[in-house]
Amino acid sequence: MNDTLQVLVRQIRFEGKGINSYELTDPDGGELPPFTSGAHIDVHLGDGAVRQYSLSNDPEERRRYVIGVLKDDGGRGGSSTLHRSLHVQDVIAISRPRNNFPLADDAKKVILLAGGIGVTPLKSMAHSLQRAGVDYELHYCAKDPAFTAFEDEMRRFADQGRLHYHFDGGDPTRGLDIAALLADPAPGTHVYYCGPSGFMKACEGAARAWEAGTVHFEHFKAPDVAIEALPAGAFQVEIASSGRLIDVGADESIADVLNREGVPVETSCQSGLCGTCKTRYTSGTVDHRDYILDDGERGEYLTLCVSRCDSERLVLDL
Ligand code: FES
Repeated sequence: MNDTLQVLVRQIRFEGKGINSYELTDPDGGELPPFTSGAHIDVHLGDGAVRQYSLSNDPEERRRYVIGVLKDDGGRGGSSTLHRSLHVQDVIAISRPRNNFPLADDAKKVILLAGGIGVTPLKSMAHSLQRAGVDYELHYCAKDPAFTAFEDEMRRFADQGRLHYHFDGGDPTRGLDIAALLADPAPGTHVYYCGPSGFMKACEGAARAWEAGTVHFEHFKAPDVAIEALPAGAFQVEIASSGRLIDVGADESIADVLNREGVPVETSCQSGLCGTCKTRYTSGTVDHRDYILDDGERGEYLTLCVSRCDSERLVLDL
């Protein structure tokens, strides 16, 4: 299936300091492929670069995707390129929506924790929860109001008493006490969080006592530690269907080697964030380095773009 769509940049809005939203529509005004809250799209930036952005709007809106993009001058350059080069009426290539961060359908209550631009998937979830009549609260943490996005649409959540802003002036100790908020895991309550790495760490620590399967998160950027992480040693990959053995060097990814050797595997983020390269394996001791698979999945799947193998051989179900 061709995973790529052409969409029209219909509107670009200033949302907050350094934050623009981009409304993408079908060039002929038709409906777009459906999505569910928590989904993201790949945006092809030209020159081969691809970046992932969460959809922020209500999944019931079938004629537009809205992404929020914070210009991150310290990042890999994707957000700066997007801010600089995308214009209203451009037609760009994106992927169909994929969802690695879906809402559980059996939650009695949902706590959404957003750090900065991490609000984008959680805003979409708030739309869905509101519509479904599920009890939820959305906590939006930011430095100050100038750094928040989607003010108009957020007002309806605030008016319902669902949205709580927490401004820390740049000092996280003055912001939301996440540990206190998550101190008492409640049966049937699910927690979702997304934000920058310090925020993610605070949420992870605060949710440690929560039951498995009730805590969900998505990194929008690989944590700093991963950027510095070096690959482990070399190993061999076996393709289960053919028995072919392929060597993977210490300084190359499994995905790159397979593609070079004529075993095509699809990749997107190349950072263990999007799930595009998720593949089943049948044996081997995997050193998982992704940010999306949970412990249950890791016994069966790995991401080919970042994960390594600690044993001599890794057998892939390809
Ligand atoms: S390409 Fe995104 S997780 Fe591997």
